[in-house]
Amino acid sequence: MATAIIGTGNIGGTLARHLVRGGEPVVLAAKDKANAAALAEELGELARAASAEEAIAEADAVVFAVWLDTTKELIATDARLLDNKVVVDPSNPLGFDESGQMIRTLPDGQSAGSVVATLLPTGAHYVKAFGTLAADALASAANREPRQAVLFYATDDDTAATTIERLIHAAGFEPLKAGGVADAVRIEMPGGDLHQAGLNGALLDLDEARAAVTAEPSV
Ligand SMILES: NC(=O)c1ccc[n+]([C@@H]2O[C@H](COP(=O)([O-])OP(=O)(O)OC[C@H]3O[C@@H](n4cnc5c(N)ncnc54)[C@H](OP(=O)(O)O)[C@@H]3O)[C@@H](O)[C@H]2O)c1
Repeated sequence: MATAIIGTGNIGGTLARHLVRGGEPVVLAAKDKANAAALAEELGELARAASAEEAIAEADAVVFAVWLDTTKELIATDARLLDNKVVVDPSNPLGFDESGQMIRTLPDGQSAGSVVATLLPTGAHYVKAFGTLAADALASAANREPRQAVLFYATDDDTAATTIERLIHAAGFEPLKAGGVADAVRIEMPGGDLHQAGLNGALLDLDEARAAVTAEPSV
C-alpha cells in the first residue's frame, strides 16, 4: 500500500522525495493537480498523482502536508475515507494576519494535533509527525552521518506508531515517540520545547532526543 501525501509544497514535496528514495510508494495530491503530477513525474515509478480523494482511498497512510485550516476542511469532506487509515499530521497552529505576519492561530497550550485528532472518525489512527523540523532542515538532514537526526512523533495509537516509525526510517531519520496526543504541543511550534524552533535550531541524535523527552519542559 502507498502513502498518500496531500500537499506537495515545502513539507509534502520534501517528504515525497525522501520516501521514494527510501523505497516507499507515494500517491501525491495538491490543490492544483498539475503540481502533484510534475512532482510524480520527477520521482518516477514509485510516485503517481491523483485527486485528494483518490489518493486517500488507495493509501494505508495519509499525510496532510497542508495548512491546518485546509486539513480541517479536507477531513470534513473526506472523513469516511479516513476510517482505518493512519493519519499523519505535520501541521503547526500558524496562519497570517492582514499584514502578512505569521501568527499563532490557537490559544497558547492548545496543539493543532489535539484539534485534528478530534475531527477524525473513531477508526482512524492519528499521529502527529513530520512537522518538527523546518522544511529546509527536513530536506537537508535525511540520512545524516555518523548519527541520524531524530524526528519526534506523538500518538496514542499503536498502529499509527508502527507505521510512522517505518516511514520515518524510510525518510532517513531516527523516530522517537515524544508521548501521546496530549504531548503533541511539545513537538509543534510556536512554543514546543521539542520542536526544532524550541531547540534553538538543533537537530538531535537519539541519545540527545531521549534526554530531551524526559527533561521537564521549561514552559
Ligand atoms: N514549511 C515549514 O517549514 C513547515 C515546518 C513544519 C511544519 N509545517 C506544516 O506543514 C504544513 C504544510 O506546510 P508547507 O510549508 O509545506 O505549505 P506549502 O508549501 O504552502 O504547501 C501547501 C500545499 O498544500 C496544497 N493544498 C492547498 N490546498 C489544498 C487542497 N484543498 N487539497 C490538496 N492540497 C492542497 C498546495 O497545493 P498547490 O501546490 O497546488 O498550491 C501545496 O502543495 C503546514 O501545516 C505547516 O504548518 C511546515
